[in-house]
Amino acid sequence: LIHLLSTEGLSREQLTRLLDTGASFLGVSDRDVKKVPLLRGKSVFNIFFENSTRTRTTFEIAAKRLSADVINLNMSTSSTAKGETLLDTVDNLCAMHADMFVVRHESSGAPHLIVDHLRRTGRSDIHVINAGDGRHGHPTQGLLDMYTIRHYKGGFEGLKVALIGDILHSRVARSDIHALKTLGAESIRVVGPQTLIPTDIESLGVEVHRDLDSGLKDCDVVIALRLQRERMSGALLPSATEFHDRYGLTHERLKAAKPDAIVMHPGPMNRGVEIDSAVADSPRAVILPQVTFGIAMRMAVMSVLAGG
Ligand code: CP
Repeated sequence: LIHLLSTEGLSREQLTRLLDTGASFLGVSDRDVKKVPLLRGKSVFNIFFENSTRTRTTFEIAAKRLSADVINLNMSTSSTAKGETLLDTVDNLCAMHADMFVVRHESSGAPHLIVDHLRRTGRSDIHVINAGDGRHGHPTQGLLDMYTIRHYKGGFEGLKVALIGDILHSRVARSDIHALKTLGAESIRVVGPQTLIPTDIESLGVEVHRDLDSGLKDCDVVIALRLQRERMSGALLPSATEFHDRYGLTHERLKAAKPDAIVMHPGPMNRGVEIDSAVADSPRAVILPQVTFGIAMRMAVMSVLAGG
């Protein structure tokens, strides 16, 4: 692997190697993420054109735990506001000796554009990691989700997983679906209103459920997704109350899932919309461990890329 642009196309062996590498960075306690010298002397540039709390910060922590130098650009105060293009920005950061770019962008395909540009200009040794592009993919979230599932469920065989809510705009859903398929989950369900489920989603090998109870039935893993209001226009936008009534995760609705089902959410959560606080703060929710595992998995991605 040179770049990480998507979970699509990663083999089971590659995914397993990344998960095992992530595990090697965690100590006896999940809170104990090791510091290692693997990226000493390397410069990691975080370039985020969209807001982020978890991804940007855990990438920074992960790079520091790998002993890299980390440069965080605040794109809202950068010269992109004066009209500088994405690729001119990249060229200038390359001139500052970047070894790795971590890129979040509102446009699907922006990290791919950077990879093509680096290839064309003879700089294929600079690594690019997709930290979320439009609706397309969020591969490191997919990987940390797989780590979380494997941690709590021991593996993927026989697992029933439900992704609930705004599938249409969710890059996390796509990254999770590709990884879950490759890792051998038994059943992957997407659950939500017709307007928020892509028409071609069944081609990815998932079951579509409009009804929450049927989607949750006997599930081992429940992944709630945020309504991405910023990507919706009038007709698509359901009212928060209506959405909560039909698809909001409550303890009552979760009775349809297995009693030991875990509840995940990539964040940020809209409490009282896709998930009740009573569920989000309950012992079955593993939402904060997902964030901690994100540090280890981002260390895994950067170290595997840097090691060729
Ligand atoms: N899960 C996730 O991508 O969160 P942030 O937008 O805060 O990075």
